[in-house]
Amino acid sequence: MTTEHTAEHWLGRSVKRKEDDRFLQGKGNYVDDINLPGMLHMSILRSPVAHARINSIDTSAAAALPGVVAVVTGELLAQHNLAWMPTLSGDTQAVLATDKVRMQGQEVACVIAEDPYIAHDALELIEVDYDPLPVVVTPQQSLEPGAPVIRDDKEDKQDNRIYHWEAGDPEATERAFAQADRVVEYETFYPRCHPAPMETCGCVADVNPVTGKATIYMTSQAPHAHRTVFALVAGLPEHQIQIISPDIGGGFGNKVPVYPGYVVATAASLLLGRPVKWIEDRTGNLISTGFARDFYMKGQLALREDGKMLGLRVNMLSDQGYAYADAQPSKLKAGLFHIVTGSYDIPAAHVVTDGAYTNKAPGGVAYRCSFRVTEASYFIERLVQTAAYELGVDPVELRRRNFIQPEQFPYTSATGFVYDSGNYEAALDKALEMLGYEDLKAEQERARQEGKLIGIGLATFTEVVGAGPSKDYDILGLKMFDSAELRVHPTGKAILKIGVQTQGQGHETTFAQIVANELGIPPSDILVQHGDTDNTPYGLGTYASRSTPTAGAATAVVSRKLRDKARELAAHLLEVAPEDLEWVGDRFQVRGAPDRQTTIQEAAFAAYTNHPQGMEAGLEGVTYYDPPNMTYPFGAYAVAVEVDRGTGQWKVKRMVAVDDCGVRINPMIVEGQIMGGLTEGFAMAAMELITFDELGNCIGSNFSDYLIPTSWETPKFELGETVTPSPHHPIGAKGVGESATVGSPAAFVNAVVDALAHAGVRELEMPMGPDKVWKALAEAGLAE
Ligand code: CDP
Repeated sequence: MTTEHTAEHWLGRSVKRKEDDRFLQGKGNYVDDINLPGMLHMSILRSPVAHARINSIDTSAAAALPGVVAVVTGELLAQHNLAWMPTLSGDTQAVLATDKVRMQGQEVACVIAEDPYIAHDALELIEVDYDPLPVVVTPQQSLEPGAPVIRDDKEDKQDNRIYHWEAGDPEATERAFAQADRVVEYETFYPRCHPAPMETCGCVADVNPVTGKATIYMTSQAPHAHRTVFALVAGLPEHQIQIISPDIGGGFGNKVPVYPGYVVATAASLLLGRPVKWIEDRTGNLISTGFARDFYMKGQLALREDGKMLGLRVNMLSDQGYAYADAQPSKLKAGLFHIVTGSYDIPAAHVVTDGAYTNKAPGGVAYRCSFRVTEASYFIERLVQTAAYELGVDPVELRRRNFIQPEQFPYTSATGFVYDSGNYEAALDKALEMLGYEDLKAEQERARQEGKLIGIGLATFTEVVGAGPSKDYDILGLKMFDSAELRVHPTGKAILKIGVQTQGQGHETTFAQIVANELGIPPSDILVQHGDTDNTPYGLGTYASRSTPTAGAATAVVSRKLRDKARELAAHLLEVAPEDLEWVGDRFQVRGAPDRQTTIQEAAFAAYTNHPQGMEAGLEGVTYYDPPNMTYPFGAYAVAVEVDRGTGQWKVKRMVAVDDCGVRINPMIVEGQIMGGLTEGFAMAAMELITFDELGNCIGSNFSDYLIPTSWETPKFELGETVTPSPHHPIGAKGVGESATVGSPAAFVNAVVDALAHAGVRELEMPMGPDKVWKALAEAGLAE
């Protein structure tokens, strides 16, 4: 044995993704790949109208079609007390409509047939007699006195308000405004868009007629939480329900809610005694499942003449559709929207939020976002740019004057968040240097003189991810801890089981790296298992960039527990006291005699073959990690665009993104997350839009109307990093999955507005299609 030993470091290494072996060979295992003997297929009839009373549903012709096994209606479900279900925000949502339909695309009936084509054809044979009702398509209409009450299924509901919720200190904010030299106002709408994952939602429900056990393969970002909801809805004990989320083709928040299709397929399998598969089509996904955003925001920033921010007021009204159905921590009605003070040291703030029902799809899911942080970040970054124009200060300079300084951390914001760590100016400096800000400004000036429009936009955002500490965060009462269970086998290979569920983020690799970093077992020797409620410890799932801050922390902690036990085993093998040993990354060495060593593999073997008397055999453990705080990743994004004065089209010349997510476990995976997030941020700024006509018809129900960028439209991104570790996370990591989607829309909009700002333009609503930009050019006298 050598006396000089250097263990491999597994953090900060771009280990190739273990899961890609199967994905690159087309060997992934998605819900639609699951085919069970005797399996039936389900298709859903959806309402063509947005608001109507149902007079009758005639299913006789559909039921008579050869190959149809059953037709399920709300009336049938009502007999089993299943016509309505709870949502993850504590509201209710119809499984299949009974009294009324309340949105276009609502689930009205389901056909179960021997094959999917028959099931689909039979839908056309179902006759539904609808009596149309007045339609409400905006939250402003919805809150007007006399508006039709959408949720009249609730006995005590007299209006359409879902919640009114406030954060911050109104009096302190009043005082701040009274002292202000300048007050800058900004109002905007963050339109409805949709996560549109590549794989739509679906399930295969298999209720065993003999044992009664329900095995449900499901496109779920949160299998444990979903199992609990199923147990509550169906009254089945949890050991009789196994939810398996196999490979998931993207989630982005869309696969967090419970959807009617899952419930009907499971009920049908129970009643028919055969497995039932439901795979949603694209239109079904776009019109009925969790949309995102739909936030109306206005506010004022109080400033001193020198640009110091003194106070912030924000009012937000959210359109929730006909049910409050996203997963919202129960104490936080508008999610984490009150992070709206952003990266700035604003001493006083008051945030007033309201949510309202409309005749639209339920949701308001946090599309690649931590509970409404995206909208908040967009608002403050647009407001700061507007303030810079009004004060005649460079947007860079205004930010510098107001950033929370590194020595102020941990920093308590005016709305009550305790930011863990940050260094905003360092990230901004790096982004400006990479962009060549001063040169670009000179180029902008020259271009203007030549009649060309160049714009430069910044966003210096702060996120809040890793929900969350159990004192403040729960979904339906379920505390938002997460978990990791680690077993090291006799030969030193390991299996890690986690409560979160990847949908493409690479957990099989990065979580193995965390174990490798703590125990020195190479990632290739560690199997990471997730997404199966019978075989993983309880956890709240993957969304809101919470996996690394919660289950990632649990993984480090459980690994350390095992290392402590391995120390005892090594001491036994080396016949020394445990305190005489030092850990060198993958083995213990005797202090002062480093050639006397025990590797982690040798210690593991001893745990099963030669453990000391009185010690429990085996090397395994489980940790449920309750994070002491959220993590606060941040970044500085800078975009340069060129706007065509003849067409209103804009093109990204440069896009620089500097992210700080603390310690990076796998830089390649982090960069992949950022590239994907930037693409989705660009998509929102440029093209993604779901809108409705006055009758509540959804415009954006297919990929011809709902535009998502392909590689052709997506600009090139230049990435940079700074590293400010989280002081409370065991390995100093913060979440990153969503940072780029949160931070980038404001940077793109700020850039396009900046190109037109010298002519007085201050606002362009997303998505900034060429039509809108051309109109703004024309109104500002800039169009050619
Ligand atoms: O919850 P979700 O997995 O969507 O988000 P995340 O925790 O931000 O992690 C996204 C991916 O990036 C995971 O594979 C993480 O382990 C990885 N990551 C990393 O390598 N280093 C970080 N500091 C944060 C995330």
